[in-house]
Amino acid sequence: MRPIKSPMQSRNGPLFALIGLLTWSCGGNTPKCPDTAAKDDTGIATMALPSYNDDGHLLRPDDWERWTFVGSALNLSYSDESHSLCDGGDVMSMVYLEPGAYDVFKSEGSFAQGTMTALAVYCTGTDAEPAVDGVYPTDLELLEMSVKDDAQHDDGWAYYIFGTGDVGGDASLGAWQDSSAEDSCFSCHATEAETDFVFTQFYPSLP
Ligand code: HEC
Repeated sequence: MRPIKSPMQSRNGPLFALIGLLTWSCGGNTPKCPDTAAKDDTGIATMALPSYNDDGHLLRPDDWERWTFVGSALNLSYSDESHSLCDGGDVMSMVYLEPGAYDVFKSEGSFAQGTMTALAVYCTGTDAEPAVDGVYPTDLELLEMSVKDDAQHDDGWAYYIFGTGDVGGDASLGAWQDSSAEDSCFSCHATEAETDFVFTQFYPSLP
């Protein structure tokens, strides 16, 4: 995550229809289409690999919410600036790993090529019945992904933001984040994350 400018819309029907079209068009000579039956060297895991459109934009995996949940944080902040998500209210983040990539990491201790992670950020509520205390996630506010892909990116990992209502862009296409900027996604993940650009220090099930 990074200092974020504005809130995200919730998912809606037309966007999913668009995803369907894009997925359907990924075939024939289209480069970088998904290989859903990839195996690691030992053959112990199958990984879903990232898919891209002709322009190299990452297609939003439509099953990311079924990926393996690895961690959650409340108001985790890594900037002195206050965030502008959720009108400055509490935000809750959830992190997921593509299940095949999770299995490979658990058995090998390293992230395989093609590993996909997702960071979903939610606004929060406090007052729904029967709660008398505590905080729970409400609307999905932001969706970001990282992909380990040496072939496409010299840096090893690539970072993407999916369009949101106010942030702009396409909700089904991840916009690649330029890694050369001083305060890029890449710079923080490269220097602060515990394991190969991934913040495993915040994910209890990952060593
Ligand atoms: C200043 C540091 C910092 C910056 C800049 C940053 N992140 Fe992160 N990122 C984190 C931290 C800390 C986590 C741990 C999980 C959380 O925030 O709940 C994280 C987690 C993630 C994850 C989950 C997998 C992982 O690597 O741990 C994704 C995906 C992600 N960030 C994407 C992005 C994208 C895309 C950008 C740029 C738009 C970005 N990040 C910029 C610090 C940063």
